[in-house]
Amino acid sequence: MSLAELIRERRSIRKFNSTPVAEELVVELLQTAVQLLPSSAGVPWRCVYAGTPESRKRLADYMLQTVSHSRLGKLIPDKMLEVFKKRFMDIPAHVVVLAGTGPDPLASERNYAAVCSILQNFQLLGWERGLGMLWDTEAMIQNEGLFQGIGMRADERFVGILHVGYYNKAPRGRKRTPAEKKWTVFQG
Ligand SMILES: Cc1cc2nc3c(=O)[nH]c(=O)nc-3n(C[C@H](O)[C@H](O)[C@H](O)COP(=O)(O)O)c2cc1C
Repeated sequence: MSLAELIRERRSIRKFNSTPVAEELVVELLQTAVQLLPSSAGVPWRCVYAGTPESRKRLADYMLQTVSHSRLGKLIPDKMLEVFKKRFMDIPAHVVVLAGTGPDPLASERNYAAVCSILQNFQLLGWERGLGMLWDTEAMIQNEGLFQGIGMRADERFVGILHVGYYNKAPRGRKRTPAEKKWTVFQG
């Protein structure tokens, strides 16, 4: 598959099958993803990995403890929270990605952008090996319970959780805005 095809054909996967994901493969793909970014040397970032049923349950518990105690969360029926928790726990692997931040806002933004590129590379490399992913940044999952549970520090920024697993069927792609529509030739 050419690189252009890989980029075009990769899909976000929201329904995974139960085939286990090898932690070594995830690490290998992340290592390659970093190497693809020449400017990645010195980029502060790290991942917290949950790949066993116990760790996935703990992660879900941390995340949901804040949700269920929040004003909005109290309006969500317990049954719905249970369904959400089960779906989360059934996904073979979760990679929580954190980017380092510092006193210089511009440097922090650059670093965050670099980590985002690493993640896009990671998704593409995974796709090439049959692994599907969803980059999750939903407001509901970004809460104190999760941040404390994974030990996120004050000088770190949450970039997302990549849910990772094998899939049976890739969804159809969404319609894309042609690049020309985002293009302005500067006339001065
Ligand atoms: C930075 C970033 C954050 C995202 N956050 C979410 C999210 O919170 N929930 C979600 O369902 N998809 C999320 N996605 C996935 C996009 O919605 C997805 O790329 C879009 O549906 C297009 O589908 P495709 O990846 O199959 O082309 C995110 C993607 C990116 C790049």
